[in-house]
Amino acid sequence: MNVILLGPPGVGKGTAAKRMVEVYGVPQISTGDLLREAVKNKTDLGLKAKKYMDAGELVPDDLVIGLLKERVAKEDCRKGFILDGFPRTIPQAESLDASGIRIDVVVNLHADESVIIERLSGRRDCPKCGAIYHVKNKPPKKAGICDACQSELITRDDQKEEVIQNRLQVYRKQTEPLIRYYERKGIQKTINAVQTIENVFADIQKAIGQA
Ligand code: AP5
Repeated sequence: MNVILLGPPGVGKGTAAKRMVEVYGVPQISTGDLLREAVKNKTDLGLKAKKYMDAGELVPDDLVIGLLKERVAKEDCRKGFILDGFPRTIPQAESLDASGIRIDVVVNLHADESVIIERLSGRRDCPKCGAIYHVKNKPPKKAGICDACQSELITRDDQKEEVIQNRLQVYRKQTEPLIRYYERKGIQKTINAVQTIENVFADIQKAIGQA
């Protein structure tokens, strides 16, 4: 089962992917997480990527494609994987096709922008274990502290209001055309992301034929 989760920033791709990891035991490959890790470790790639990420722009295709291919080639992807945040441009999708990596289903999570802005502005992350919270929709048991590993939760640098607006604009221009791209291939399924986290997951299960 090789699945792509497509959708605007903040729609709930990471949240859904983590649920899929728990249930299906396949890895979540988030290019955002891979890039943030490279930034944290100050690798060459991380140093190049940081300025784009802080501004809410996409990191250049050549950098992200290399990173993704390297990750998908790892042993744990043999029985499947969930791509979260990749591809994000038509050239990225074409390079995935050209590399012979098979994709079974593309699940497009849809929500209106007002919902997305509310989700992004209330999002909190655990910098240690990667758990995702929301101050209202998915609060931790103790405010500001991760339930799983007790680390202090953070607000990501790209969650500022002006950066959020730019991320949404970048999504509309560069990523939204992928919906048509995968529709034409007959593997795209759109689901309503404005439901509880459990109901979104149930719809994903139906979309990937695992209900
Ligand atoms: P990335 O890390 O991929 O971020 P993103 O796609 O912009 O989206 P988020 O991770 O912010 O949101 P999400 O959809 O995962 O939603 P979440 O589950 O957190 O990318 C960051 C940056 O890296 C990019 O801007 C770019 O610079 C670079 N980058 C990454 N990939 C790249 C690529 N392929 N090419 C080029 N550059 C790339 O949910 C959001 C909030 O809502 C949470 O608080 C959550 O608790 C809550 N929530 C989730 N689901 C629900 C629900 N059903 N009901 C209520 N609340 C919910």
